[in-house]
Amino acid sequence: FMDITEHKQFESELRNRESRLRRQAATLTELARCHELLDGNPESFFRKLVQTAAETLGVERVGIWLYTSGKDRIVCHECYHLSTGERSRGAELPVSSNPTYFDELDSARFIDADDALQDARTRDFADTYLKPLGITAMLDAPIRRKGQTVGVLCHEHCGGGPRNWQPDEKAYAASLADLAAMVLEAADRVRAEADRERLARAVTQSHEAMMITDVSGKILYVNPAFERITGYSPRETLGRNPRILKSGEHDAAFYEKMWATLRSGRVWKGRMVNRRKDGTLFHADEVITPIRNEEGEIVNYVAVCRDITRELHLEQQLMQAVKLESVGRMAGGIAHDFNNLLTTILGFAQLIVDMSDPKSPIYNEAREILRAAERGAELTRQLLTLSKSRLTQIRPLDINAVVRNMHQLLRRTLGEDIELVTVLGEDIGSVRANETLLEQVIINLAVNARDAMPGGGKLSIETLAVELDERFCAQRIGVRPGRYVRLRLTDTGQGIPPEILAHVFEPFYTTKEKGRGSGLGLTTVYSIVKQLSGYIEIQSQPGRGTTVDIYLPVVPEEPEAQVEIVESRGALSRGNETVLVVEDEDTVRHLTVRMLRSLGYHVLEA
Ligand SMILES: Nc1ncnc2c1ncn2[C@@H]1O[C@H](COP(=O)(O)OP(=O)(O)OP(=O)(O)O)[C@@H](O)[C@H]1O
Ligand SMILES: [Mg+2]
Repeated sequence: FMDITEHKQFESELRNRESRLRRQAATLTELARCHELLDGNPESFFRKLVQTAAETLGVERVGIWLYTSGKDRIVCHECYHLSTGERSRGAELPVSSNPTYFDELDSARFIDADDALQDARTRDFADTYLKPLGITAMLDAPIRRKGQTVGVLCHEHCGGGPRNWQPDEKAYAASLADLAAMVLEAADRVRAEADRERLARAVTQSHEAMMITDVSGKILYVNPAFERITGYSPRETLGRNPRILKSGEHDAAFYEKMWATLRSGRVWKGRMVNRRKDGTLFHADEVITPIRNEEGEIVNYVAVCRDITRELHLEQQLMQAVKLESVGRMAGGIAHDFNNLLTTILGFAQLIVDMSDPKSPIYNEAREILRAAERGAELTRQLLTLSKSRLTQIRPLDINAVVRNMHQLLRRTLGEDIELVTVLGEDIGSVRANETLLEQVIINLAVNARDAMPGGGKLSIETLAVELDERFCAQRIGVRPGRYVRLRLTDTGQGIPPEILAHVFEPFYTTKEKGRGSGLGLTTVYSIVKQLSGYIEIQSQPGRGTTVDIYLPVVPEEPEAQVEIVESRGALSRGNETVLVVEDEDTVRHLTVRMLRSLGYHVLEA
């Protein structure tokens, strides 16, 4: 016979190993498929993993340890105790406590210390770690990412003696460690995806236009705000050069300087004028940043741009309003002084005329003085319109009636070659105004239109009831939402280039030859409109005619009492009553006294 003990032993060992392998394979597959791994949730995956490992291999303690970021300590993230089913975490070991072990961990596939208290790699842990916990054998598999050891999966046998780790057990431990590495990888990927999504949401929803180009300037990405501001869709921009936005407002040196800054790796900040797809220009506050890769090379440029056209426009309007206000006040002040002087000149000249013989040379000379002084007075009167101190009669007024009454006058002013069309809106309500002031406005605008159409054309005057909303008013300075009457004059004249348009309201600004225009027309119009709490706006382009819009607030329905008084002068009357003259300006008082006396009055001076 033969001894089959050995054979039997071998057979049962084989069967054992087979069932172990089957179990190992099944648990590995199960772990590899679980959602915690795919979702990148290390915490709960580690819980499953250490328990599975302990149960499959029959090891008392299985733990996952990860290095701290400085790699000077290793911390237990999850540990399962097989006999009690307990879990623990948070234990820490300094790397310096066992350099041999940690060095080995960096290069070996596993550390299989059958007798941990004797093994050269683990025995330094004996007094501080192994003995206190009763650990006698260790099977440790490093967890590696991108070739770097980031932690370790520790199987700690507490059986009172050594344990002979089997090859299949070692392979299994190594596979589990790989799964642990995978879940860390997945967690990073999920985090990166969330970051990317957040970033993408921020960029796509950003109010500011963003554009990413490669180093040659080829556009790789534009966000929705870019399309909103420029009018170009991504399809029309990708692969092209930002040159498509060039406005022609900057010279070659401007762009060269910008590129030089960028190529040298510095951020470029500045304002530039760009052209939208529809041809209109916009002002942009722009920051362009060179983006570097990990090697430090510039690989992209990212441009962030804010459309500040509206802000600039409002700023200009504000500056214009402030300037006109102060210039107007100054002109009004000067005119007031001049008026006093002219009154004196006119008065004395009139006295000389009255007292001298019409045949004498002095009579004619005095008439000359009178004429010149009258022209001067006319000019100062116009200037006085600019100062608000003047007294005027303001009352609810029907603009349509004013326009209708002016028809004849306008026809005559415009001449035969200009067609006059009036379109008067219905139920436009009343505005607080003064007939003379409104006439002054319309006549000034009509004369300007006429002068802009030397070869003939068409002037249309329209009135319309309009409701100005928040959006309209947000774009403009000095107008509040509400009901208005819009008085619009449109001509088919030569139009106004932007550089001139910016100045038309300024006093004495004229493009007309000397003696033709005083440059006070629009200044007067502006100040009257302001005085009537209205708003004026001119739109014009060379060759496309000019449209002037004046908005005057509608007065509430209830019939309002008449307001304010006039400064009217009736025909000179004579009399013999006693008059007290009060006037602080000496010359004017002196003159008034003399004139009243010459008219027969008895005068007292004060
Ligand atoms: N309808 C228009 N079409 C073209 N240009 C205009 C028009 N209205 C005004 N302008 C321009 O604006 C300038 C200023 O106009 P404004 O009425 O203030 O002065 P003016 O007409 O030159 O002189 P004044 O009105 O005092 O006789 C004009 O010289 C002209 O260049
Ligand atoms: Mg004018």
